Amino acid sequence: MARLNLLEETRYEKLPVSVYNNQHEASVAVANRIADLIRTKQAKGEKAVLGLATGVTPIGVYAELVRQHKEAGLSFKNVITFNLDEYYPMKPTAAQSYVTFMYENLFGHIDIDKANVHIPDGTLDKDAVAGYCLAYEKQIEELGGLDLQILGIGRTGHIGFNEPGSAPNSGTRMVTLDDLTRSDASRDFGGKANVPTKAITMGIGTIFKAREIILMAWSKKKAPIIKKAVEGEISGEVPATYLQLSQHVEFVLDEAAASELTRFDTPWLVKDCVWDSQLKKKAVIWLANEINKPVLKLTEEDYNNHGMAQLAVEQGPVYNINIDIFNQIQHTITGWPGGKPDADDSQRPERALPAKKRSIIFSPHPDDDVISMGGTFIRLVDQGHDVHVAYQTSGNTAVWDDDVLRYMEFAIDFTNSIGEDTTHLQKSYEDMRAFFPTKQPNEIDTQEIRNVKGFIRKTEAISGARYAGLQDDHIHFMALPFYETGKTKKNSVGEEDIQLTIDLLQKIKPQQIFAAGDFADPNGTHLVCFKIILAALERLKGKEAWVEDCWLWMYRGAWHEFETYEIEMAVPLSPQEVIRKRNAIFKHQSQKDRPVFPGDDAREFWVRAEDRTRDTAQRYDRLGLAEYEAMEAFKRYMF
Ligand code: F6R
Repeated sequence: MARLNLLEETRYEKLPVSVYNNQHEASVAVANRIADLIRTKQAKGEKAVLGLATGVTPIGVYAELVRQHKEAGLSFKNVITFNLDEYYPMKPTAAQSYVTFMYENLFGHIDIDKANVHIPDGTLDKDAVAGYCLAYEKQIEELGGLDLQILGIGRTGHIGFNEPGSAPNSGTRMVTLDDLTRSDASRDFGGKANVPTKAITMGIGTIFKAREIILMAWSKKKAPIIKKAVEGEISGEVPATYLQLSQHVEFVLDEAAASELTRFDTPWLVKDCVWDSQLKKKAVIWLANEINKPVLKLTEEDYNNHGMAQLAVEQGPVYNINIDIFNQIQHTITGWPGGKPDADDSQRPERALPAKKRSIIFSPHPDDDVISMGGTFIRLVDQGHDVHVAYQTSGNTAVWDDDVLRYMEFAIDFTNSIGEDTTHLQKSYEDMRAFFPTKQPNEIDTQEIRNVKGFIRKTEAISGARYAGLQDDHIHFMALPFYETGKTKKNSVGEEDIQLTIDLLQKIKPQQIFAAGDFADPNGTHLVCFKIILAALERLKGKEAWVEDCWLWMYRGAWHEFETYEIEMAVPLSPQEVIRKRNAIFKHQSQKDRPVFPGDDAREFWVRAEDRTRDTAQRYDRLGLAEYEAMEAFKRYMF
């Protein structure tokens, strides 16, 4: 039965949704509900039966439960747990197993009776799986069913490992994982080829029987699937939509995951809005795209028919609104990313003075500079600015093992050719050759191998930056320590990361900083690198005069671009500049053809970069602005 929704604002939402400022607050709220349930049951002398999930989403909830156990006396003695799923085949002791995950994040730190913990067994013989699954269901039933089931959601819309195509009444069973799910898991397994193709999962029917269901999602990465799950039609293509049929479900989201829901994304469709300039710009661009018309051709009728009558009435005539927005977009376009000397800069994104700026481009990995803003990089150099580039991490996890051998062979041959002794080199080389065939997925490389991988990326970065026109002394390698774990999981940011950044900033005293402002992936290296720069700037602010005149521009990495309404500087590229940028990206040979971490995008980095910048240019064109070959986009960050 569909939910009766009395609120206009949430009229597109087919199940209850709670939105929190951030994932921490949301996780604490969910943990509190679990703790309340446990205590209520305790008071009655009953067991609390919990359905638990793995993945990055529930980590904060588990951390808060552990905290409450340690600091507030929350006991788990009366708790029985059933985990949603496990890969198949999977040894419980493997680093990627959900058993390992659950003990690391929860069970290892609380007083739960281990006999009360149930996680599907990934070690069974194939023939034994069906019987085991029936028994799993029966155990839950005999305990009176699940009191509370917590869920994450995969980008396929899966809950548990119920991938698209799962039946609404499915029970615990063996399933085949979706290709996208395997790509998402590939980091944990050191490559997609190592991700199991199967899993054992509770069914949608099993989940449905829980007395309460809480589905959580954080970050922008989840926003599109959340929109489908909450506002879309019920369909086997998005298994989470079946939750719309439940009377006991709630979605708990952070603002980023909720950002594509109608009430946040296009609020004018569901309520009266306070029309600040940002919302106005967003709405007018949305309207133009929605009806496929350039901004200056939008009519009163278009506004009225698409939920924007309020804006037309309050701030019209619409012709004036159109012109205002058109001009705003027009003024973001500049061929002078370092400011245009001797020009009136009142309507330009960057200041004219000083005419020659000290600019620093921070690149989280050794190729983000050219992939994301190679055209602007080259322009800044061509226009005579004092440009520096700083590679924040070594990027040494993303190099293939056989490349290491190739470079070692080169080193040996060269050393031989100048008549030097190669004994040491030869020994290292032999060790590496012996190690690689025995290497387990995600096993950490030796320090020597990590060094070689880092050197490979270093030479490529130098080559790329040199191609863009930089002198060697303007190319900086920071090798920030937080990254140097040899694993995909990095350390937390330390004092040294910030200090190294402060040192470099103090040396250069930039008027302009370019940095990767990628907020989609909360655990990603880009965001960590951005936060380090911010921390450094915060500490320098008020102490050093140059900081007051320093502007921080964000660019986006290979995957996402800013929304058009967010763009504050759009740097057009000519067809010739697109080729120069491509050549700079080509210098990153170890990332060409097939990088170690391609994400879920089969395109090479240079293709992604070109598709993206062409798309940005086309978006401007469609709004009725000048038509360029490509455009790189930036947004200013006020610190
Ligand atoms: C985990 C599970 C999955 C995850 C989902 C989201 O037990 O069954 O459905 O909840 O894949 O994963 P994360 O939280 O890592 O984004």
